[in-house]
Amino acid sequence: MVVPSKPRGKFITFEGLDGAGKSTQLKKLAAYLRLQGVDVIITREPGGTSLGSRLRAVLLNSRTAGLSPMAELALMFADRAQDIDEKILPALQRGQWVLCDRFSDSSEAYQGGGRQLGSQAVHELHKILCHGLKPDLTILMLSDLSASIARARRRNTAKSKKKKDENRFEKEKEAFHQRVMDVYLAIAKREPQRIVKVDARDPIPEVHRRIVQSVEERLMKKGVSR
Ligand code: TYD
Repeated sequence: MVVPSKPRGKFITFEGLDGAGKSTQLKKLAAYLRLQGVDVIITREPGGTSLGSRLRAVLLNSRTAGLSPMAELALMFADRAQDIDEKILPALQRGQWVLCDRFSDSSEAYQGGGRQLGSQAVHELHKILCHGLKPDLTILMLSDLSASIARARRRNTAKSKKKKDENRFEKEKEAFHQRVMDVYLAIAKREPQRIVKVDARDPIPEVHRRIVQSVEERLMKKGVSR
């Protein structure tokens, strides 16, 4: 007897500037989906695997000095390749949904835009190292640039009291974050079928409602299995 294989799960990513509230919304969406009976796992980049958490410490610690932009890009992709092979693809194949806090759009925005390496290098690495894996849906959280950075800096100052310094990107100048945002908006324009822009300045429950609506419209009303 042939046992019917489970349909592949859905892959949803969250993107936006530091301090835009991605992680809060990702957790709220996971809770909502679980209530609907969807089997969900959560991951994040950098840092979703045990190798990844070591890479994260190198990438985000503000004492990491002299990391070249290309080396930074390579480490982001090393983290991602491990996350995909160890967590994301096996989960999708088991039929689980995967919610990921940042994915390759972050590399295009931060290393491609912020560090000015351009989009092409990112696309080529993505093709080779990520098996060309595309999210089914990407939530792009749009926030006010200076308010987001201020929020991320406050949060990390609070964290640093507990001795966890993840400030390397927050220390970049406003022009860096503006380039990051510009690339995010260009990606959203290029791939409107994948990317939903959400105004992150609205109250948390309202932002959550918008995200749930997009997920239901795009991924759940098409007879997708749960
Ligand atoms: P994250 O943990 O999402 O921080 P926050 O909650 O402040 O948004 O992301 C960590 C940092 O890593 C963030 O500043 C963006 C940066 N980053 C890149 O520069 N390139 C990448 O490919 C990824 C995944 C993250």
